[in-house]
Amino acid sequence: MKAIKKITCIGAGYVGGPTMSVIAQKNPDIAVTVVDLNQARIAAWNDADLNNLPVYEPGLDAVVGEARGRNLFFDTDVDKAIREADMIFISVNTPTKTYGKGKGQAADLKFVELCARQIAAVATDDKIVVEKSTLPVRTAEALKNILENTGNGVNFRILSNPEFLAEGTAVTDLHNPDRVLIGGEDEEAIEALVNVYAAWVPRERILTTNLWSSELSKLVANAFLAQRVSSINAISELCEVTGANVDEVSRAIGQDSRIGPKFLKASVGFGGSCFQKDILNLVYIARSYNLTAVADYWEQVIIMNDHQKTRFAEKIIQTMYNTVNGKHIAFLGWAFKKDTNDTRESAAIYVADHLLDEEAEIVVYDPKVSAEQIYKDLDYLGSRSPEDNRRLLKVVDNPYEALAGAHAAAVLTEWDEFKAYDWAKIKEGMKRPSFVFDGRKLLDKKELNRLGFAYYAIGE
Ligand code: UDX
Ligand code: ADP
Repeated sequence: MKAIKKITCIGAGYVGGPTMSVIAQKNPDIAVTVVDLNQARIAAWNDADLNNLPVYEPGLDAVVGEARGRNLFFDTDVDKAIREADMIFISVNTPTKTYGKGKGQAADLKFVELCARQIAAVATDDKIVVEKSTLPVRTAEALKNILENTGNGVNFRILSNPEFLAEGTAVTDLHNPDRVLIGGEDEEAIEALVNVYAAWVPRERILTTNLWSSELSKLVANAFLAQRVSSINAISELCEVTGANVDEVSRAIGQDSRIGPKFLKASVGFGGSCFQKDILNLVYIARSYNLTAVADYWEQVIIMNDHQKTRFAEKIIQTMYNTVNGKHIAFLGWAFKKDTNDTRESAAIYVADHLLDEEAEIVVYDPKVSAEQIYKDLDYLGSRSPEDNRRLLKVVDNPYEALAGAHAAAVLTEWDEFKAYDWAKIKEGMKRPSFVFDGRKLLDKKELNRLGFAYYAIGE
């Protein structure tokens, strides 16, 4: 099989953008084109000012700066990019379905299917098609069907290559992955993709499996990671009533090399585009095979996570004398974790929604998330009118402004900068008692207590 010379990626989002940038950076002899229907997004990827890239990831600006214009291109002409490519990555969004069968659980594959139909309609020579989006097991089969039945008689070989990068560390994860997983049936196609990654990833870290194992491994990896977070969050509630400290418990169990230290940080709840969606998907698949015990087992990870978000909001209300009506609560952070501007499934959205139901007045500060995005997240829930969301919740671009005159501060995201604030100055400007609710166990408890704050953290 001849070496891959042209790669096209459909979807210039959090996965497609960074992944293709690194593939292009490490393979200067392969032309990589990333296409998207969203013109504004493509324009932002092409912005001369690298601070304006549509995805915020530490180190991404340097990678794009190095490869863009050399062998990395962002474009809106999807057909042309499909026609010219030897290998096509599908990296479009696969949200949880919001309608019909599997609503709230199954992945919505309409964007993937549209891509497949477009590839089939346009392609005039053989292509390797790589699933990059997280997909339910056996989607490759559906893809193959569509491609073969609607195509122009050209040969499509399908691979699954799930993404394991975490947002906020995407560039380092891509540069130095624990493993790259490639699933497929066709040895030649697998080898072609292995060679793309082997430009910088040691061969022993490139695993090849059959298609279904690869697809399922992605869901299972995220389910296991999320399960650890829900497990420690369950223990955080127990710590709060028994006097144990969840950080101490985490450290104690994490030192056991069989358990390991990662993903044991108690929090206000996990968010992000993958964990919930992938578990719901796993649950849906298990139920569709009538594996009720398996489905119930994994569903509990989500139930625990929802409980943790509600519990945090209720802790705030209860501590503030059972009413937050008209009280000013400053939210530090809106993103689902630090170092990203992504807010999908962020715990902050649900905690805010709960407090707004009680007529709290929230002022949000997040270093990377725009006001527009925050209102979009709230409006999407449909809990109240857009006017009420804007009346009750304000967004500011200065943390001290968010905190001035506040009854309480709530830490929703673990941004490093929150630790460096002048908390003595903040204390002076806040109402008394000055409550701090730390959903990330981020701030210095001793120092805040010394300054006179009433400090409450998850799990202690
Ligand atoms: C995850 C997977 O890690 C990644 O491999 C996959 O490709 C996509 O999904 P991501 O969603 O970017 O990545 O973030 P991750 O770092 O896994 O965090 C997910 C959520 O769990 C965040 O809200 C985070 O704050 C929370 N979390 C994580 C905790 O609350 N405690 C922890 O100990 C770890
Ligand atoms: P992810 O986190 O999986 O990368 P995003 O929502 O950030 O998800 O990105 C997916 C991108 O795919 C979006 O920018 C969307 O506009 C794009 N997209 C969806 N369907 C198509 C399509 N048929 N052709 C081109 N781009 C598409």
